[in-house]
Amino acid sequence: MADLKKLFYPSSIAVVGASRNPKKIGHLILKNLIEYGYKSRIYPVNPAADEVLGLKAYPSVSSIPEPVDVVVVSVPAPKVPEVIEDAGKAGAKFAVIISSGFKEVGNVELEKKVVETARKYGMRVLGPNIFGYVYTPSRINATFGPRDVIPGGVAFITQSGALGIALMGTTIMEGIGVSAIISIGNKADLDDADFLEFFENDPNTNIVLIYLEGITNGRRFVEAASRVTIKKPIVVIKSGRTEAGARAAASHTGSLAGNIAFYETAFKQSGILFAKSVEEAFDWVKALTWNPLPNSDRIVVITNGGGAGVQASDTLADNGLLLQKPPKNLVEEIRKFVPPFASLANPIDLTGMAPTDWYYKAVYAALNDPDVDSIVVLYCHTALTHPVEVADAIMNAVKDSGGLKKPMTVALIGGVEAYEGIKKLTQAKIPAYPTPERAAAAMAAIHRYVKYREYVTKRLSYLGGS
Ligand code: ACO
Repeated sequence: MADLKKLFYPSSIAVVGASRNPKKIGHLILKNLIEYGYKSRIYPVNPAADEVLGLKAYPSVSSIPEPVDVVVVSVPAPKVPEVIEDAGKAGAKFAVIISSGFKEVGNVELEKKVVETARKYGMRVLGPNIFGYVYTPSRINATFGPRDVIPGGVAFITQSGALGIALMGTTIMEGIGVSAIISIGNKADLDDADFLEFFENDPNTNIVLIYLEGITNGRRFVEAASRVTIKKPIVVIKSGRTEAGARAAASHTGSLAGNIAFYETAFKQSGILFAKSVEEAFDWVKALTWNPLPNSDRIVVITNGGGAGVQASDTLADNGLLLQKPPKNLVEEIRKFVPPFASLANPIDLTGMAPTDWYYKAVYAALNDPDVDSIVVLYCHTALTHPVEVADAIMNAVKDSGGLKKPMTVALIGGVEAYEGIKKLTQAKIPAYPTPERAAAAMAAIHRYVKYREYVTKRLSYLGGS
């Protein structure tokens, strides 16, 4: 098991190739590192410069007055071996190699040489062919991606650089807080399993999201993932699901995408939630990171529109979750304020004439009913109400109930006003979506995780006991 402590809690970081040119990658990484607030020592390394971004520059890692923990390397690939040799000799513990031009373009030998050199000195390698890494508890943003990453509980491991860097922006837009973002690129040395092992016991991480093209050591991955899913969920976006996708993955990071049936089995065995798209993955991550887990499968759907309720019911049923009759007490509570023609089966239809306070009362009652395990709230924008007011009513019901003690997802369906409401709920860490299907699918992911966790716990205890 790799000891990654000094990668995430380094005493010092050097940036090799810290260019004076503000448009170059090495410069941008140094800038992010400084401006995101890494508090310990930062050393720019550039033989052509005396100073970069106000910090004294050194001609090589070995000329820095202390052994550094992390060396971020942003010089062209042919120069990387000599930088690694020098950093290794100087006692650096981790090399984070940004440079492209290795296995992904056929330079297998060059990549091998870099790893062999690093390992000779006991140094571990992240990359090459990556955009860097983030660890918010240490205020490290050693990437050339967006700077103001929101701290939170999601650890994101990505094999794709460009997609990963773009998704860094998505986390900010969606208000999703991250503990870590790891670009793993060619995985010449450290791979997904190493990071899973770290996140398993990382108190700052409550969910792991992985964008995966291929796995090198399937058995180790499954073992590590199984241990993690007992403690926290893992959502994986597996690209290269089709033959065309697999061909694209091979030329991207040099990975073998493999047979999708193999992955599906491996994911099931280790309790991983398999997302088919980026959108689905982020929907589930929001629901999982902001919600507690349910006790059982007694889901209640509250809506003001029959059609939205039907769509949510179908999506839940597609995921093996059949809606049961709502608890009697809840029905009696809601019957007090809705018209006689309201359907109080499940979905509970507040009717199209529902004002915001009906949403407040219904959500409050469901949150406080011990026979309700989770809630899907749906709202179709009508002229009677404004989606932002409905969002406020839902937020107040949560607040007056002492916070989310059971999982809830919300769909506000409509135009731009509905998006305003979604934004408001998201800021309050209540997962909200623009369609009933997405709210229901996100809820289904939570329930599926609970089932997977039971299964993996049993499987591991059986294996341990045999
Ligand atoms: N040690 C330290 N600094 C050095 C050394 C050395 N041995 N040799 C040169 N330098 C300096 C240079 O003088 C330069 O500084 P200056 O601009 O102040 O003169 C700086 O290091 C950078 O060197 P350049 O030769 O200018 O390299 P450049 O910055 O153009 O490119 C890079 C380096 C970014 C690593 C490039 O080779 C590369 O691989 N780019 C692709 C990166 C990438 O896409 N990564 C993958 C995935 S992320 C994604 O897909 C979005």
